[in-house]
Amino acid sequence: MTMEFSDRIQRVEPSATLAISSLASQLEADGEDVIDLSVGEPDFPTPENIVNAGEHAMEDGHTGYPPSKGVPELREEIAKKLQADGLEYEADNVIVTPGAKQALYETVQTLVDDGDEVVLLDPAWVSYEAMVKLAGGDLTRVDLAPHGFQLEPALNDLGDAISDDTDLLIVNSPSNPTGAVYSDAALEGVRDLAVEHDVTVISDEIYEQITYGIEPTSLATFDDMYERTVTVNGFSKAYSMTGWRLGYLAAPEELVSQAAKLHSHSVSSATNFVQRAGVEALQNTKDDVGEMVEAFHERRDRLVALLKQHDVSVRTPDGAFYLMLPVDDDDQQWCEDALEEAYVATVPGSAFGAPGYARISYAADLDRIEEAVERLVDAELL
Ligand SMILES: Cc1ncc(COP(=O)(O)O)c(C=O)c1O
Repeated sequence: MTMEFSDRIQRVEPSATLAISSLASQLEADGEDVIDLSVGEPDFPTPENIVNAGEHAMEDGHTGYPPSKGVPELREEIAKKLQADGLEYEADNVIVTPGAKQALYETVQTLVDDGDEVVLLDPAWVSYEAMVKLAGGDLTRVDLAPHGFQLEPALNDLGDAISDDTDLLIVNSPSNPTGAVYSDAALEGVRDLAVEHDVTVISDEIYEQITYGIEPTSLATFDDMYERTVTVNGFSKAYSMTGWRLGYLAAPEELVSQAAKLHSHSVSSATNFVQRAGVEALQNTKDDVGEMVEAFHERRDRLVALLKQHDVSVRTPDGAFYLMLPVDDDDQQWCEDALEEAYVATVPGSAFGAPGYARISYAADLDRIEEAVERLVDAELL
């Protein structure tokens, strides 16, 4: 028998990052010391108070199905956090999801029909494209690379890309993969276009707490944006909770009630005891977050300085823990060479719509980052 697969699934390619990570695992299995700068996760353990809260929640019997949209305590706590950021969301505006990725997936499925037009700002996180394609949407991509990865609506020709035919725009600041944090003026430019053309915007703010001397503004705080914005965030990056799978979307109630249908018919809910640990994360983890951000800051500064010493000039990222390294035009080949010749794993920029770059994650110890640069220099890749 030959199985017939849906058109939908065949529109999507396997993740390009996986090709590199499987090569890296193979080299490691062969005994090579691979420095992995390809991963999108903090290298810190989850703070102890959060782990304890999760354990206690299990012991206290929070192991059954929770309410589909999330346990009330966590939805309340998320609403409080968002209100502190100047947003108007109440608990009823929140759906708690197993990771921000699921929040994004549900939002795209809720908003995008076959042939709908979705605008992405390149370089863009790999899964946006796949999510839009799964929903049948058409992509228009705006390249921010020529302007140092900065969003400057007039310079980036965003006005040409967004028209009355546009249904959805996805904005991610701080950005994965560039680490760029968009200015208030840039976000106002986005607002003007979104309002003029009646476009809904997803604001993926998952790296919002990881910035260096800059306070990002949440898109839905701008006038006329609340009603057209879906704010997505999660616990993976700020609290080093990638494997716990906890995130959320916040949006006007009409969107929440539509997305909640997909949520309840697919994942049912995020894990009950994990949500209780999420309450602890939001209430009592400020110091640990601050320490992790400080460590990322130090690593960023060191990496940028080391690259400068070797005459490699990069755009200094203001947030997240990624840096875009300019490499050969064939960035896929460069990344393979970096792995095979220097045993340094990075991700080809073309996976994000940025050929000619490699994404370096500096979520690694300082000495490993330093050694990685040395190895790349020795292999004449820098
Ligand atoms: C830009 C961006 N959005 C969303 C996610 C999803 O995060 P999670 O599903 O772990 O909450 C990631 C993870 O890499 C990301 O980089």
